[in-house]
Amino acid sequence: MDHARRIFSEYNAWLQSKSSLEPKALRIKAGFDLDFIHQECRLGLIRLWGEIQESDEYTLHLKMNDLEHEEFSLTPLENGFEIAGGSKNALLYGVYRFLNRLATGESMEKIHEHSAPKVDYRIINHWDNMDGHIERGYAGNSFFFLNNKFDYDQERIKNYARLMASIGINGICINNVNVNKVSAGLIAEPLLTDMAELAALFRPFGIRLLVSVHFDAPMIVGGLTTSDPLDAGVKEFWKAQSAIVYDKIPDFLGYLVKADSEFRGGPEAFGRTQADGANTIAAAVAPFGGLVFWRCFVYNCQQDWRDAQTDRPMAAYKHFQPLDGTFDQNVILQIKNGPVDFQTREPVSPLFSNLKNTREAIEFQIAQEYTGQQIDLYSLAVQWEEILAAEVDKGKQLKSLFGQEIVAVTAVTNTGNNMNWTGNILAQCNLYAFGRMAWNPELTAKELIREWIQITFETDAHGRQTIEEMLLTSRGIYESYTAPLGIGFMVNPSNHYGPNVDGYEFSHWGTYHRASSDAIGVDRTSKGTGFTLQYPESLQRMYDHIESCPEELLLFFHRVRYDYKMKDGRTLLQYIYDSHFEGAQQAEALLQSWETLENRVPQEVFNSVKARLQLQLLNAREWRDQVNTYFYRKTGIDDEKGRKIYM
Ligand code: GCU
Repeated sequence: MDHARRIFSEYNAWLQSKSSLEPKALRIKAGFDLDFIHQECRLGLIRLWGEIQESDEYTLHLKMNDLEHEEFSLTPLENGFEIAGGSKNALLYGVYRFLNRLATGESMEKIHEHSAPKVDYRIINHWDNMDGHIERGYAGNSFFFLNNKFDYDQERIKNYARLMASIGINGICINNVNVNKVSAGLIAEPLLTDMAELAALFRPFGIRLLVSVHFDAPMIVGGLTTSDPLDAGVKEFWKAQSAIVYDKIPDFLGYLVKADSEFRGGPEAFGRTQADGANTIAAAVAPFGGLVFWRCFVYNCQQDWRDAQTDRPMAAYKHFQPLDGTFDQNVILQIKNGPVDFQTREPVSPLFSNLKNTREAIEFQIAQEYTGQQIDLYSLAVQWEEILAAEVDKGKQLKSLFGQEIVAVTAVTNTGNNMNWTGNILAQCNLYAFGRMAWNPELTAKELIREWIQITFETDAHGRQTIEEMLLTSRGIYESYTAPLGIGFMVNPSNHYGPNVDGYEFSHWGTYHRASSDAIGVDRTSKGTGFTLQYPESLQRMYDHIESCPEELLLFFHRVRYDYKMKDGRTLLQYIYDSHFEGAQQAEALLQSWETLENRVPQEVFNSVKARLQLQLLNAREWRDQVNTYFYRKTGIDDEKGRKIYM
């Protein structure tokens, strides 16, 4: 573990020492008992500045005042600095932000900030299984569990809690949404006591735990014969069990539930609605102030590919929109950002436009399941910025719903027990950006990427600029050599890495591109499957008409002939060829850019990122060749530029 700590302190994005900062004499003053915050602040400053000497020369004042619960302010004073906050948690955020800004190289005198989060709940979802394996994990195994037990290093957990609190995270769900018979027992003894011990490690950092629960817990844990949410015994089970949970962990945040989804049990199995299911569980935690995060990722995963009427992106809306207004106050519907499944390009889920009387959480995926698996470089901040700016209704952007209908921002994390947390160190930037954007959705990808680079790498201007450019362009590059224009998927089934154009074409998952010899895509307009009708009228019109549909989403909404003329006059087919040739070329350029950083970043970092970029290049070439060959075989039409397409 010493090694872990060393790596953490050397490379982590938040508390790394900066040789450029002059050590200053400083003392910390607070008029009340703030031991923990005081200690956090000292710790950060020690790492930033070397030794802190007690002296009157410069004083750091920590002050609790009447700001909001999580609001803080940073103010330079004559011969000192003031960090004020509306609560201990707020002060802690203030301290971390202060340290963060110092770590970017700013001088104290210039640090003025007043900040409060837009949403109350900023939550990380772990997809950790209790056997230690992480579903869609690309940075090693769980640092919570092993062999169906809690198994962790306390110091590492504290480091993790600090890392999360420093970017504003205040809730962590520790286990996979796909709950199995073992993890179903987390809400009961003996596991509950262990969970309470873990909760205690997170508590000083202002982080409350959640747990994914099994909808069939009444049967699995309670030994009942049904999980019907309207059954009196089932209601009683949830109440009694939740009382036990809250007795052990009074500040427990609540439950996350994946029901009626991908072979999970749910209320529909008993002829009940999603609201029946959610409300029964919510009523059980309500007396303790608990919440139920109820996922909307509900669709038919046993679709017949011959069935062209069923259209997977329509499913969540169909299940949940008619129930708007019927969910209890402590139910939060957790909606994936797009209507399909964390692809490189999707429109925003229409549920965000049309749930007016229901509290919502938006769910992102920091784990790069479909976006390169922490091998290929992919800056999610770039994509999130676009998503947050997307229109949901009458010119209103998605982010304007934050703090209104959207009360929580959640994400599937990309961490594991790899020493640097995320495997690919550059993937740390996604984790960092998530927390900062969840707190303040107005932040741009560019700002966040820049911040992260400054606090992570001690390098020169060339180094910083190169990494910034690599990250900023990475999403576009990945998109162009994989499945652009919103067509999505075309990945290898199951593991979701690498190309397989028809991999999902005849399967039951509902994700089809339906390529023929003259056209590709699903017509999702009001004349097709009718998906666009789930949006407010102005958006529906925009997506319905091929001329006004954003070109980057062309194949999400339309079935298009290969000879269709794109905005710049190229045919769709030529666009596909160009995109894949250029994407692979750019992947090569990423590697070349990184190679200029040898001796500008620590050798270990240089080598490990380089190895990944080499794999990315192989992947990009494979995508290029498989996709281009596929469409060449379908159409028999040559690339206008005569580049190599295999037969
Ligand atoms: C995706 C992913 C699954 C996951 C599911 C979910 O389909 O591949 O591993 O369980 O999303 O979000 O529930």
